[in-house]
Amino acid sequence: MKDMLELLAKRRDDARLGGGEKRIEAQHKRGKLTARERIDLLLDHGSFEEFDMFVQHNCADFGMEKAKIPGDGVVTGWGTINGRIVFVFSKDFTVFGGSLSEAHARKITKIQDMALKARAPIIGLFDAGGARIQEGVAALGGYGEVFKRNVIASGVIPQISVIMGPCAGGDVYSPAMTDFIFMVRDTSYMFVTGPDVVKTVTNEVVTAEELGGAKVHTSKSSIADGAYDHDVEALLQVRRLIDFLPANNVAGAPEWDSFDDPERVDASLDTLVPDNPNKPYDMKELILKVADEGDFFEIQEAFAKNIITGFARIEGRTVGIVANQPMVLAGVLDSDASRKAARFVRFCDAFEIPIVTFEDVPGFLPGTSQEYGGLIKHGAKLLFAYSEATVPLVTVITRKAFGGAYDVMASKHIGGDVNYAWPTAQIAVMGAKGAVEIIFRGSDAEGIAAKTKEYEDRFLSPFVAAERGYIDEVIMPHSTRRRIARALSMLREKQVETPLKKHDNIPL
Ligand code: HXC
Repeated sequence: MKDMLELLAKRRDDARLGGGEKRIEAQHKRGKLTARERIDLLLDHGSFEEFDMFVQHNCADFGMEKAKIPGDGVVTGWGTINGRIVFVFSKDFTVFGGSLSEAHARKITKIQDMALKARAPIIGLFDAGGARIQEGVAALGGYGEVFKRNVIASGVIPQISVIMGPCAGGDVYSPAMTDFIFMVRDTSYMFVTGPDVVKTVTNEVVTAEELGGAKVHTSKSSIADGAYDHDVEALLQVRRLIDFLPANNVAGAPEWDSFDDPERVDASLDTLVPDNPNKPYDMKELILKVADEGDFFEIQEAFAKNIITGFARIEGRTVGIVANQPMVLAGVLDSDASRKAARFVRFCDAFEIPIVTFEDVPGFLPGTSQEYGGLIKHGAKLLFAYSEATVPLVTVITRKAFGGAYDVMASKHIGGDVNYAWPTAQIAVMGAKGAVEIIFRGSDAEGIAAKTKEYEDRFLSPFVAAERGYIDEVIMPHSTRRRIARALSMLREKQVETPLKKHDNIPL
């Protein structure tokens, strides 16, 4: 028995070494942690249960029969984050560059299947060069199995990808089908084909950073939802995100003890909106003042900054926040902002997370570049997402709610449950000057000024909408947190019947 135990211990030690000391050292020199070090940081101390530590590939081509490493380039298993179960796979770049073989794929699909059965989130830590080139189609088949499971699990359990090294091919397509992607600055890249292939095919010379670094994917392509300075920070932030997320689509938002009084009022909010309607103010201030303990986890912070999306808690329970940001492009809705918010709204709806919308929007952005870029279709995504949402929707109009954007931003008409407005709200088809210049085209400057004043007095207030019941109440800004908390608790058991269908046909 003693020999057997020693043999087991030795085999475990060998497997834990992955590609060996030299490659581990190289990994560290690049500023990256190893697959196992990452898991240790991600999960609660000592909670990791590993599966398939001894799995090996069965490829015999290109000398591979002699190159077998237990674990085959991916560490898989489950553990807990602040006591809640999550499943994890972590690509080991020290073993064949973390590339995916048939056996490696089977380890991942086993974990995907278990996560789905257990209805718990799955987190993939990526640091890998795509399909194992020596295996050819067997590796491609393996990816297909992973992709299919990504899609089956979508909307059932949260799926999170963290890109922690150079990732190519299938190691970017699988993350692309998960709910959130985070990257590590300077050490992680995502591309379908790397700089060498780009040069061969298109003659374009580009660095890995320019082609698929964290900056590109968080601010330009919007592929990634956030970026962090190093592995440790990325993993700690994923722990923080998991605390906001439900385990699955029927578990309901998690609840944590909150030390922040839901009745808390904040007098400073009464002066947040400037007297001049064209002056910006920071919508994040409102979010932070309403959220429990000012804790806000922002999603896609660096992309389409004219809209803010992220998670907060009210009375200890997660809410999704969607808010126009008057500081950027006056908070206008353009294609990027619409897409960003639509995806976020759909995530919240799929996982039964109530949505709080803060609105100050002068309309959709006019112009050829927006129209040619498909503003109608992208704007429709947000309209569609809010309209199909059945989770509690609480909306607060702080200032402008103009034109189609008024309808889109969780208005009463498309399903808003509780719609509040601050006394500073202006709910109208458009701003007064633009409106008057259309209706009274040809009038002299004096006439326009007089009519503009008349239009402002008549329409640029919350009361026309409140008189029709489109706004449930005009509230004091300082009591916004209290009003939202009460609305959410009233809506806790909200039920909506929708007609049976296979799925909708959201404009893509
Ligand atoms: C087998 C691989 C590999 C792969 C890397 N390695 N990628 N082995 N299959 N796909 C091995 C290398 O041979 C090397 O082994 C070790 O991993 C480290 O790789 P390096 O190239 O030394 O590292 P680095 O310079 O950091 O470059 C990393 C990289 C590069 C950018 C990922 O290795 C690369 O471009 N790899 C190929 C990417 C690719 O084209 N993959 C196929 C995509 S197609 P040694 O023994 O020397 O340490 C695909 C199909 C999916 O994925 C379909 C989706 C729809």
